[in-house]
Amino acid sequence: MRFQGKVALVTGAGGGIGGAIARRLAAEGAHLVLLDVNDTVDETARALALASPGVQTLALRADVADSAQTRDAVAAAVARFGAIDCLINNAGLTATIAPLERMEDEQWAREMGVNLTGPFNLIRAVLPGMAQRGWGRIVNISSAAARGGLFRQGGYSASKSGLLGLTRNVTLEYAARGITCNAVLPGLIHTPAVARLPRAIMDYTMSMTPARRPGTVDEIAAVVAFLCSEEAAYVNGAEIDVDGGSRLCQTVLGSSREVESRLAIATGHAGGQA
Ligand SMILES: NC(=O)c1ccc[n+]([C@@H]2O[C@H](COP(=O)([O-])OP(=O)(O)OC[C@H]3O[C@@H](n4cnc5c(N)ncnc54)[C@H](O)[C@@H]3O)[C@@H](O)[C@H]2O)c1
Repeated sequence: MRFQGKVALVTGAGGGIGGAIARRLAAEGAHLVLLDVNDTVDETARALALASPGVQTLALRADVADSAQTRDAVAAAVARFGAIDCLINNAGLTATIAPLERMEDEQWAREMGVNLTGPFNLIRAVLPGMAQRGWGRIVNISSAAARGGLFRQGGYSASKSGLLGLTRNVTLEYAARGITCNAVLPGLIHTPAVARLPRAIMDYTMSMTPARRPGTVDEIAAVVAFLCSEEAAYVNGAEIDVDGGSRLCQTVLGSSREVESRLAIATGHAGGQA
């Protein structure tokens, strides 16, 4: 029960990874502020009430890209619980898949707004309270795309890279006030949206993933829980890859068999789901 008496705000709590983070923190005793633009946040609240009966939840609908809505949401959370100890900036989206030259102003602005300005809005709203109490945990869910880019998802990868810069600055400016801010960079994680990816894309991606499988939402939640814990007090401004090793060099010069295995997986001839 590492989070007994603590209050955690999770954005995108109606989604796959956000729901898992909320469940994990609640299972360890945190009260939860569940924020999402979508009504699925109520399902997460119901699931928490069943799984962790002693835990209090507040489900809020807000668009993280809207600074007034985020300010109001944080004010409502503080009015209910008195403080926010942990902020998990998890809400995010891919709104556009297009070559850069065809990306429209509003498409670029939407991904920047949700994936980068959204975390900024929430961080700005919670920092004064955390600094005053001399304790705070902020975890930003970035992406493996922040390191390697993502073909035809330029707005997404740029926004997730920007989130690493924001993470560093929170650490530089607030570490001395007892606040940590770290980024988690998931690789491909098994969520309903990922399950809908075309088979060829899934097979190719697994052929390039040393672990040969997607990650699970619980594997992301476990890392987030550690970063929110007391034990992680000296982990600050870190970028934690949770990607089955997929960020590593993919060149193979030492084994024809490994190359053949990857080609077989990528072309769907390896037999079964890789
Ligand atoms: N699933 C993956 O493979 C993967 C990989 C790398 C990074 N990520 C990141 O993890 C985070 C969670 O992704 P997921 O796979 O659970 O996706 P998801 O779509 O299941 O969940 C995202 C949630 O964010 C909410 N949301 C979207 N825009 C919002 C807004 N403007 N304001 C408030 N809430 C909003 C959605 O309604 C949804 O409930 C995202 O930031 C995503 O970029 C996911």
